[in-house]
Amino acid sequence: MSYELPPHEHPHRDEALPVPGPRLGILISGQGTNMMRLLEAAREGSLDAEPVVVISNRAKAPGVQRAKDAGVPTEVISHRAFPDRESFDRAVVEALRRHRVDLVCLAGFMRIVSPVVTRAFPDRVLNIHPSLLPAFPGLRAHHQALDRGVKVSGATVHLVDEYLDHGPILLQDSVPVEDDDTPDTLADRVREVEHRLLPEAVRRLRRGGYWIEGRRVTRRAPD
Ligand code: GAR
Repeated sequence: MSYELPPHEHPHRDEALPVPGPRLGILISGQGTNMMRLLEAAREGSLDAEPVVVISNRAKAPGVQRAKDAGVPTEVISHRAFPDRESFDRAVVEALRRHRVDLVCLAGFMRIVSPVVTRAFPDRVLNIHPSLLPAFPGLRAHHQALDRGVKVSGATVHLVDEYLDHGPILLQDSVPVEDDDTPDTLADRVREVEHRLLPEAVRRLRRGGYWIEGRRVTRRAPD
């Protein structure tokens, strides 16, 4: 099974996007600034979801302590403790189920998730990626953008399917790329967009009224 390339054929979908329940699981690997925005929005009552667990694959991820400080249960599941991707993913799914998670956010989770996760939570895993997908999937998105010389970049929130940075797009927004940008300065500008988009995507999914046709997600008035 490859997670790298989209298949030529997708099952054609033409259906309402299911509305997930409110219990939110957040997966991180690093700083957790996107996670913090989700926790803040929940605390302010503007998320319409309840973060019930933060899971990190790295014990030293600063986001773990931030989540603890915010009073959210945390779990560290090191991918290094597992022989392959699927067995790590099974442990993650088991933890998510233990916390009765309805909806999963990959908020700077630097692991490719296998079908073990997407089949356990179909249409219920969101990912934030720091580029305007389908441009610059994978690692080092800002390096890729600067190397390619694009004049705008941005952020994307999408539903996770079985292929890398590929699933149906929920939200995108752009930022200019300046002549003196470095990967770090571009990342800072894009991160402000990310911090806005990820809570907004959760809010919108929870509100419902979305339709998925092929991989295109649109808003539909309820019947
Ligand atoms: C964010 O920029 C996120 O888009 C990116 O990692 C960063 C995590 O920051 N994710 C990916 O590149 C996934 N392919 P954070 O830990 O401060 O939220």
